[in-house]
Amino acid sequence: MVRAPSLERMRRHWDRQSAGYDQKMDRAERLFGDTRTWVCRQATGRVLEVAVGTGLNLSLYPEEAAVTGMDLSPAMLDLARKRAAELGRDVDLRVGDAQRLEFEDASFDTVVCTFGLCAVPDDGGAVDEMVRVLRPGGLLLLADHVVSTSAPIRLLQAAIELYSVPVENEHFRRRPIEHVMAAGLAILRHDRFKKGIVERVTARKPTPPVL
Ligand SMILES: C[S@@+](CC[C@H](N)C(=O)[O-])C[C@H]1O[C@@H](n2cnc3c(N)ncnc32)[C@H](O)[C@@H]1O
Repeated sequence: MVRAPSLERMRRHWDRQSAGYDQKMDRAERLFGDTRTWVCRQATGRVLEVAVGTGLNLSLYPEEAAVTGMDLSPAMLDLARKRAAELGRDVDLRVGDAQRLEFEDASFDTVVCTFGLCAVPDDGGAVDEMVRVLRPGGLLLLADHVVSTSAPIRLLQAAIELYSVPVENEHFRRRPIEHVMAAGLAILRHDRFKKGIVERVTARKPTPPVL
C-alpha cells in the first residue's frame, strides 16, 4: 500500500499545477474523446461539480443549469472563476474537500465529477458524499481514467502509481463505478474505452418507496 500525501500538501500541489493545467489536459483530451460533452449535456437543474478544477466543463452545461463548483485548490478555482466570467456564466465556486461536502443532504439534482476521483484520497468516501447531497431520483455523472482491461497496461499503471500516489495522490487503477453500485444507485448508462482506461457512468439515486 502506497501512502497518500496529506490534504494540505495536495492543496499546495494543485495550486502549483493550476497555471499549466489546461495545457496539460489539452493533450489528454484526445484520450477522453467526447467525454466532457457526454457528461455535461445530461446535467439538469441544480448541478454540483465536485473537484471542478479550472472549470473546463463550464462551457458545456445547458444554459438553464444552476452550477455550483467546489475544489480543494483556491488557485484552480481562481481560473474557474475567470473562465465563468469570460463565459458570462454565474457559477458559485467554493473551496472544500470532496470527502466532506459542506452542502445539505439532497440539495442537488445532478452531481458531476470528471477526472477528479483519481486525485481524492478516499474516492469511496467522496462518492458517498456525492450521493448524500444528491436528491432522490437525481443523477450522478462520473468520468475518469481507471484501471485498464489490458494486463500489460495494468502493469504499467501499477508502476506509475509507485511515483504518482505518494507524490501527487494520482491513482490509475481505481473504478469509481464500484462505489456507485455499492451505494445502491441504478446504473443508467455506462461505457468504457481506450483499453478500458476511460470510464463514464450515469447513475440514478433511488427514490424511497411511498408507504
Ligand atoms: C485532474 S484535476 C480535474 C479537474 C476537473 N475536474 C477537470 O475535469 O478538468 C483534479 C482536481 O481535483 C481536485 N482535488 C483533489 N483532491 C480534492 C479533494 N479532496 N476535494 C476537492 N477537490 C480535490 C484538485 O484540486 C484538482 O482541481
